[in-house]
Amino acid sequence: MNKVYLVGFMGSGKSAIGKRLSTLLDIPFYDMDAEIVTRTGMTIPQIFETYGEPKFREMETEFLRQFPDEFCIIATGGGVAMRAENREIMRQTGLVFYLNSTFRDIWRRVSTDTNRPIVQRSSRGDLEALFLKRKPLYLQSAHIRVETTNWSLNDITQYIGFQV
Ligand code: S3P
Repeated sequence: MNKVYLVGFMGSGKSAIGKRLSTLLDIPFYDMDAEIVTRTGMTIPQIFETYGEPKFREMETEFLRQFPDEFCIIATGGGVAMRAENREIMRQTGLVFYLNSTFRDIWRRVSTDTNRPIVQRSSRGDLEALFLKRKPLYLQSAHIRVETTNWSLNDITQYIGFQV
C-alpha cells in the first residue's frame, strides 16, 4: 500500500487538497484528469466529444492499471469510484479518502465551469441526483471519509496528512 487516493464528487476539493498534501508530505502529486489531458493532448470536453464518455472511463481505468508503484498522491476524477475495478485497484494499492461536501457547496463551485462535460449537460436537479447516486459508491471505495464542510483546505490537508 503506497498511494493516497482522493475521491469525491466534482468540486469537492480533490486537486486543491492533493497539491497541499503533496507539499506537506513531500511526495509527488498526480491529478488524473490533468495526466489524461497531457497524454492525449486533448481537453476533457474534447475527449468526451470526440470519443464519448465510455472511452474516457476506459482511459481512467487504464491510468489506474498502469500506474507505477510509487508513494504519491492521486486526485481522481469524480467518476472514478463508479467502476468496481477502479475501486478495487485503489483499495488494494493505497489508502482512499472520500472528500464529502454538501451539494450546495459543490454547485456553488462547479455550476459555471465549462471544462466539466457532465456539468455542462446537466441541470442542477440532474447533478444533485447524480451526487446522491454516487455517494454510496464513494463510500464503498474509501477507507476514510472526510467531512469537508466548514473546514479550511489547510485543516483538511492536516487531517489527512496525519493519517498517512
Ligand atoms: C467527472 C469529473 C471530472 C472529470 C470529468 C468527469 C465526473 O473530474 O473526470 O469531467 O464524471 O464526475 P473532477 O472531479 O476532478 O472535476
